Amino acid sequence: MTKAELPPYDVNNLELAEVGEQRIAWAEREMPVLRQIRERFSEEKPLAGIRIGACLHVTTETANLILALQDGGAEVRLCASNPLSTQDDVAAALVTKHHVSVFAKNNEDNETYYNHIKATVDHQPHITMDDGADLVATIHREKRELLPQIIGGTEETTTGVIRLKAMAAENALEYPIAAVNESDTKHLFDNRYGTGQSTLDGIIRATNVLLSGKTVVVAGYGWCGRGLATRARGMGAKVIVTEIDHLRALEATMDGFEVQTMEHAAKTGDIFITATGNRDVIGPDIFKLLKNGAMLANSGHFDNEIDVKNLEETSEGKRQIRGSVTQYNLNDGRKIYLLSEGRLVNLAAAEGHPASVMDMSFANQALGIEWLLENASNLKKIVYTLPHEIDHEIARMKLNAMDISIDTLTDIQERYLASWEGGT
Ligand code: ADE
Repeated sequence: MTKAELPPYDVNNLELAEVGEQRIAWAEREMPVLRQIRERFSEEKPLAGIRIGACLHVTTETANLILALQDGGAEVRLCASNPLSTQDDVAAALVTKHHVSVFAKNNEDNETYYNHIKATVDHQPHITMDDGADLVATIHREKRELLPQIIGGTEETTTGVIRLKAMAAENALEYPIAAVNESDTKHLFDNRYGTGQSTLDGIIRATNVLLSGKTVVVAGYGWCGRGLATRARGMGAKVIVTEIDHLRALEATMDGFEVQTMEHAAKTGDIFITATGNRDVIGPDIFKLLKNGAMLANSGHFDNEIDVKNLEETSEGKRQIRGSVTQYNLNDGRKIYLLSEGRLVNLAAAEGHPASVMDMSFANQALGIEWLLENASNLKKIVYTLPHEIDHEIARMKLNAMDISIDTLTDIQERYLASWEGGT
């Protein structure tokens, strides 16, 4: 492709395309469900004529999703959903090898991040795909004239779904959203096993720390926190969970974790990982209590779980000590290590969730878009969970690809389950 034939783009380095292409193919091996959807989309073209604006982490897995949508007939423009998560080689490969319009640069500043979202909005999408709801929020705030042509949108994350439900509750949401995160084949796997593994991967790549014998404090016992705590324990760490919800705290306790307040845990933790979806989880009061050498990492969508601004203001100095580690010198002589600037450590310091779980998340994205298009005329301006049939079909396809068979109910068992007369 000559430069003139390339789609509109803004990426860091087109010369990385060859490496990106190989890595996209490597991820594809672990995405059999998405592969089958892509094959069907290629034949049926259910997305013909549809412009999609996607604001997602630009990774090898996302590339495979975008290619499936493109094969389904869609014209996709992609921007990053986080300034630090873009894999520049993938962005280059999408532009040069697949003619996808990409606006994403690793390490882009805030202004560029939003300019890239605006470029995606300028594509005038019929469908939006979001990871954190920045694209939806930008359109609702700044480009309301586009709203009437938008058929619907999908949302990938817990954080984004919370934000969009808040919009819907205020009657501010102007088109229907399929909340991919709410599918069982998404959060039970991606949030638990994906975040669990990739967050520890990010911490290890950033620091090369041995988890065994360390005290790891996990803030939040949602699906991400559950996965994180379990995997950290599996690697030999002593795990403390902090929570604000009684039920979840009870569950963590019965799962065998120590539950403490953050104030209490602050004094003993070696590594802190936030996964709450809320702001100010670790702030000035906690910084005062941390042990010398404590490490802070965030795995929540936004970089506001750790109060980095306060850490900046109250430290005597800071130093980039390794690629993804900043050392903060506190005025009492303690040193605190912040990973990946408090942004999601699994994507900033590692490669995000492995392809095998993104396979199911992105199958939900692809089928979610198809569902939005098929049901457009009946949908309200609210946040929907995708139908159980889609969830079950994805689980069936995944098991099938893993060569795992399950039993089926006999007729008698079916009737038994549907009746109330049998008893003691
Ligand atoms: N979110 C978490 N991991 C991801 C990945 N590998 N690709 C895209 N989005 C992600």
